[in-house]
Amino acid sequence: MTVDKQGSQAGAPVPRHVAIIMDGNGRWARARNQPRHYGHRAGARAVREAVEACGRAGVEALTLFAFSSENWRRPATEVRVLMELFLRTLDRETDRLHENDIRLRMIGDRSRLEPRLRERIATAERLTRDNRGLHLNVAASYGGRWDIACAARALAREVAAGDRDPESIDETALGEQISLADLPAPDLFVRTGGERRISNFLLWQLAYTELYFTDVLWPDFDAAEMHRAMDWYASRQRRFGRVPDADSGAGHA
Ligand code: IPE
Ligand code: IPE
Ligand code: MG
Repeated sequence: MTVDKQGSQAGAPVPRHVAIIMDGNGRWARARNQPRHYGHRAGARAVREAVEACGRAGVEALTLFAFSSENWRRPATEVRVLMELFLRTLDRETDRLHENDIRLRMIGDRSRLEPRLRERIATAERLTRDNRGLHLNVAASYGGRWDIACAARALAREVAAGDRDPESIDETALGEQISLADLPAPDLFVRTGGERRISNFLLWQLAYTELYFTDVLWPDFDAAEMHRAMDWYASRQRRFGRVPDADSGAGHA
């Protein structure tokens, strides 16, 4: 077996789309007797490493959960720190992403974001929209239920306008309205920080995704950890409801 510099197995299947819940910043800070924002800053630095590792591995799309619909319930000071960090990270990293041919998109409820943040996001999206490298999607003010409700509303509008027969609404029609509909569904989901839950991330899109949970806290999740997750993915047998290949041969009808 050949192993490359990062420790991954050569020739192993690479996930086309990786989706990550970047959790554990607060606990990382607390372990160092520091306030939570110290962990969020360290978490922002870990993003770059994850993006680079995915780019090098040949992943086509990376979707990062940065702030959930429910994270608005956090203390106002923490929310402010996170939004400020989001803004500054965008300012600092957008040119670099563009130079690396990365296409940046944000998914989530933009109406809840401050206007100056919304503008910066729109500018970064416009600048990078024709890039052909990694699709980097940042989920901010995002909830899976919000996403499904938006898709349902879009279909309802078409029906109300007389442009759609309600009977035509099926999984394909709804799936075409959901965030990231132009990308393959995530193959690999990663959640750092030890919790084994989805926390309202991509509910529709994760239907057949392989779920990887690690106790590593997000600021410590480096390229080697990313490769560990990808190696685990390579060992999975995906069946999508079918029987394993070995059992599906002729003569077994
Ligand atoms: C993830 O880290 C970052 C966001 C949710 C914005 P947390 O802030 O949830 O860190 P823990 O889970 O409290 O350690
Ligand atoms: C999920 O983490 C959201 C993000 C990482 C952005 P949380 O820390 O908010 O999730 P819960 O509250 O533990 O489920
Ligand atoms: Mg958390």
